[in-house]
Amino acid sequence: MKIRAAIPVVWLLLLASLWGGEWTPTLPDRTQFDLGAFVFERNCAICHGPRGDGKGEMAATIAPKPRSFRSGVFKYRSTPPGKLPTNEDLTRIIRGGLSGTAMGMFTQLRDDEVRAVVEFVKSFSRKWRDPANYAPPIAVPPLPAWWADPVQRGAHAARGRQTFVTTCAACHGEKADGKGLAAATLRDEWGDPIAPANLHGPLHSGETPRDMMRVLLTGIGGTPMLNFATTLNEEQRWEVVAHLTTLRAIR
Ligand code: HEC
Ligand code: HEC
Repeated sequence: MKIRAAIPVVWLLLLASLWGGEWTPTLPDRTQFDLGAFVFERNCAICHGPRGDGKGEMAATIAPKPRSFRSGVFKYRSTPPGKLPTNEDLTRIIRGGLSGTAMGMFTQLRDDEVRAVVEFVKSFSRKWRDPANYAPPIAVPPLPAWWADPVQRGAHAARGRQTFVTTCAACHGEKADGKGLAAATLRDEWGDPIAPANLHGPLHSGETPRDMMRVLLTGIGGTPMLNFATTLNEEQRWEVVAHLTTLRAIR
């Protein structure tokens, strides 16, 4: 009788060992929170720390440092300054990683695991409990009419270069290589030195003109990269983006 009862269990174990994939329990009674905690502990805690404070075992040797999730400040968002990122923002980062940092791509996780770990990340900060901190993504305007005309665009890009030199070069450098005069002195919200992006290289926030426009509208949370939603007008922002696009084309 006892042996008979054990047969299904033996089968399950056998199937699991044949499967060869990483053994991830998917018992139906596991809540999403438990699954999220499990996925986090296995895949994220080594850097982000078991308590989400960014102080995992590997953190000491990494620059930029793994994010602490405890203050609820996120760098990469589609939402307005000061707001929390969307589920899509978090999912994109977890799936796609952040090139040039230790944050790798988690392509091997199942969709429900990613959803669960996204929710688990939110459990570290009280900010996620206040609806006032949520906002829909910023509407990124369509490309201006002159974008399609190479001559006009060239003229706008030249003006964009001027704006870049006066507004951005202190940090990013005149050549946009990240070597501005102020670059060495910059610190982020977490007290660590932070380098202005080399705008010729891979960009975390996306590389299309509209991605760059979004960064100018949202800023990068917790860093000296503020938003330029009011300090520049829309035409000036597109001109700067046009300038950056020329740099990237001849990279
Ligand atoms: C090998 C180290 C490492 C591991 C493992 C790791 N991360 Fe990261 N993660 C980082 C670093 C470093 C950054 C910060 C990059 C930056 O500041 O540009 C980061 C950034 C992030 C961000 C963006 C935060 C922001 O401010 O916008 C999210 C979200 C994130 N990680 C989630 C996760 C999750 C979830 C896992 C596990 C599935 C994970 N990370 C595993 C190192 C790691
Ligand atoms: C006070 C210094 C400072 C100024 C001024 C500044 N930036 Fe930045 N910028 C930064 C820093 C620091 C980062 C990197 C943040 C990070 O680590 O993700 C950054 C990141 C960026 C990124 C995103 C890079 C990525 O990986 O997604 C873009 C695009 C950008 N800046 C464009 C500009 C433009 C255009 C201007 C002028 C209109 C400007 N910045 C002005 C400091 C500055």
